[in-house]
Amino acid sequence: MVQLLPFLASLAFLHYTTASPLASSLDDRTLELANSMLAHQANPKAIHLLTNDANNSVVTLKVGTDGTLSEGSVTPTGGMGLTGMNAKGMLLSPDGLFSQGSIAISGRNLIAVNSGSNTITLFSISSSDPTKLTMVGNPVSSMGDFPMSVTISAKLGQACVANSGARAGIACFEIVTNPFLWPFALISYSKRIFQPPSLLPKKHSANPSKSSTGLAPLDIALRSFPLKQTTPPTGPANTISEVLFNSDSTALLTTVKGDPATNNTGFLSSYPVVDGCVSEEGETRSNPKGTTLLFGTALIPGSSSLLVTDPSFGAALISSSASAKAMFSTAVATKITGQKATCWAAYVENTGTVFVTDGGLNRLVELDSSTGAVVKVLDSTNGNGGMTDIFAKGNLVFALGFGKAGARVVVFDVSAGKGAAKEIQNFMLKGVGTTAQGIVAC
Ligand SMILES: *[C@@H]1O[C@H](CO)[C@@H](O)[C@H](O)[C@H]1NC(C)=O
Ligand SMILES: *[C@@H]1O[C@H](CO)[C@@H](O)[C@H](O)[C@H]1NC(C)=O
Repeated sequence: MVQLLPFLASLAFLHYTTASPLASSLDDRTLELANSMLAHQANPKAIHLLTNDANNSVVTLKVGTDGTLSEGSVTPTGGMGLTGMNAKGMLLSPDGLFSQGSIAISGRNLIAVNSGSNTITLFSISSSDPTKLTMVGNPVSSMGDFPMSVTISAKLGQACVANSGARAGIACFEIVTNPFLWPFALISYSKRIFQPPSLLPKKHSANPSKSSTGLAPLDIALRSFPLKQTTPPTGPANTISEVLFNSDSTALLTTVKGDPATNNTGFLSSYPVVDGCVSEEGETRSNPKGTTLLFGTALIPGSSSLLVTDPSFGAALISSSASAKAMFSTAVATKITGQKATCWAAYVENTGTVFVTDGGLNRLVELDSSTGAVVKVLDSTNGNGGMTDIFAKGNLVFALGFGKAGARVVVFDVSAGKGAAKEIQNFMLKGVGTTAQGIVAC
């Protein structure tokens, strides 16, 4: 993306002189950039989640002006879902991916993982109707087995995916939504592998008539993690939890759970971003003190800190050192009393706090983002069994919930500020089972 900016700038005038599809799509891109900087204060218009079943699909629900959900659309991803296993080899759900971030959103781009097909799918969300998703290109290989978390950097125009199966590790892609920019994706790919475009694998060859938009690989091979897993993996211990760009896209972070049974230590991987790409060198792996099962993260804006959940005790505030080798250490570990499986986290801009959910307890816990202290425990009386993935936007917090008859989305209103979250809806997802995972809003 960085290397494309001069090109975009030189073409920007086109919009004012012509009405070509190229010009209007560049204009959309500019709007998208402006919106991504301004829109975070407003409530979303829609939420998206993944069924993660055999006919993997993105379920989109409308968000009304009062914050409540109503039916929207179901869009197949063109791939299959799959869940991990317990020690006895039984497929698990909810939380079958052992992950946070199985669906990611940035502006109008949405990416979903297909854990059973080893692919990821890019969609474009209509700017006029957020329930209308259009697949961009075809699903592409995730370069490993059991993709379970994905992240998008708007700044870099890139996405990275984590795989937690037999071939475990991460891989990165350029997001190409404009066919005229496909050749530039080729250039950055070839720069990275030091080969002229003529030597590139066939599927990367420039062919404007075919699949010239979509996800273009930036890596030639998986960046492997030594998990020695199977496909599907046995978990939740000894699996990858989440991959995410940090807030200024200067590093790609990945949380990996250890395995207490084998004294295997979990770690936080950090790859630096160099020259507009996730570098293949300079990865650091930190073992923040006291953590065992690093799970979902919430970046704390305006700091180098992140709040990471750990289902072995609660959550930890973790900070990186200022030195060139980004190592992370535990600043505060917060034991959450009575917790069973604190795994998912979301930072809420309007309250300055982090909300975490527990797969084994039906409650929402709010944590102070500077001290890590528990602000409030909201016990829900809606009858669900627990909550997994969580996403916050504006004054609304959405969490995936589970009951006897399948998946739900629980909506919380945080407009009254810190410590005053209120449950406003428990929306039953018809026909969506407990395999559902991932949640984002736009
Ligand atoms: C997959 O799901 C979509 C959306 O609900 C539906 O339209 C389609 O018929 C399903 N395909 C199969 C093979 O079940
Ligand atoms: C793990 O470490 C503990 C403490 O050092 C030790 O007692 C135990 O035997 C180790 N377990 C395994 C499986 O290595």
